[in-house]
Amino acid sequence: MTDTAPTESDTGSTLFAPLALRGVTLRNRIGVSPMCQYCCTDGLADDWHLVHLGSRAVGGAGLVMAEATAVTPEGRISPADLGLWSEAHAAALAPVAAFIRRMGAVPGIQLAHAGRKASCLPPWAGGARIVDRAAGAWDVLAPSAVPFSEGEPLPIALDAAGIDAVKEAFVAAARRAVAAGFAVIELHAAHGYLLHQFLSPLSNRRVDAYGGSLDNRMRLPLELIAAVRAVIPDDMPLLVRISATDWVDGGWDLDQSVLFAREMAKLGVDLVDISSGALVPYAHIPAAPGFQVPFAAAIRKQAGVRTSAVGLITEPAQAEAIVVTGQADLVLLAREMLRSPYWPLHAATVLGREPDWPQQYGYAVKRR
Ligand SMILES: Cc1cc2nc3c(=O)[nH]c(=O)nc-3n(C[C@H](O)[C@H](O)[C@H](O)COP(=O)(O)O)c2cc1C
Repeated sequence: MTDTAPTESDTGSTLFAPLALRGVTLRNRIGVSPMCQYCCTDGLADDWHLVHLGSRAVGGAGLVMAEATAVTPEGRISPADLGLWSEAHAAALAPVAAFIRRMGAVPGIQLAHAGRKASCLPPWAGGARIVDRAAGAWDVLAPSAVPFSEGEPLPIALDAAGIDAVKEAFVAAARRAVAAGFAVIELHAAHGYLLHQFLSPLSNRRVDAYGGSLDNRMRLPLELIAAVRAVIPDDMPLLVRISATDWVDGGWDLDQSVLFAREMAKLGVDLVDISSGALVPYAHIPAAPGFQVPFAAAIRKQAGVRTSAVGLITEPAQAEAIVVTGQADLVLLAREMLRSPYWPLHAATVLGREPDWPQQYGYAVKRR
């Protein structure tokens, strides 16, 4: 990491200081956290994505990250997930990335494989696992034949060829994301999805080179990171989202996250996006405002990597304090960005700064 301490902006608000990651500069340290929209047909982006993500770029975010985007059809959480497993998927996403850029934000995309948490109904339809093939169920893949919830059909443990295929699918999707015009790629290794399933001893019971010791459990994610880093431009930032803890004794935890973050930094990961949980349904998660920020701070300090903080960050002063105190380099908001797509513009006003309205609105809203 070359820039451990965020610099004060000329207005005294570090939340609105630019953040440089390789060849990309975010106009501020506010990002739209990836959020599945569960509204695709065959994984294709449509006007919803343009308006949903585009309006948050208009709203002043520095980084606008598209939702978990499946690298293969079987890697979708639900049949309505966004995907990037063909050139047609890239073509559908290209106007979205272009519009985000045009609005001065940086377009990012999160690449994902749901592993054993695939083949589910969208949350607005209950989120349950689809088990009936007639209802569209598909075979789900995982490190080991351990289901997410008791009573679910067992996932299929990936063999060596399957592991290679997963890596190739992430690499191919990363190439397509670059071609579609995204400027930042995030790999989803959090929330109990496939890469997290490899990391956690609760879901990874393998006895080969991909299971057992921490080195072995990190192997697939690290191999995959190296493979993606090798095919994306040198000046393109690579982010990885992790769950810093499973919130379960004997599971993945902060100490392992620090070691993982160090290894990722060596491979050229530019920022680790720190979330938590969702590997198992029985974890008790003490959710409260900013509850994951201490993980972002600990990993930033102990691993020497840039981090982003996410989770119940809703107030401008709260976001500002996270960045000013060096707990994280970037703040991501999810639900608050749904409630308030122009949150960054309003936050600027609250923090005593002139909001950077788009030209189309700026002259008008300043007139009383
Ligand atoms: C509707 C919705 C969809 C989400 N989809 C994703 C996703 O695609 N990828 C991801 O990493 N997290 C996803 N999350 C988690 C958010 O990115 C974020 O980490 C979480 O909501 C906590 O932030 P918040 O308190 O600001 O909402 C989703 C959250 C919501 C509310």
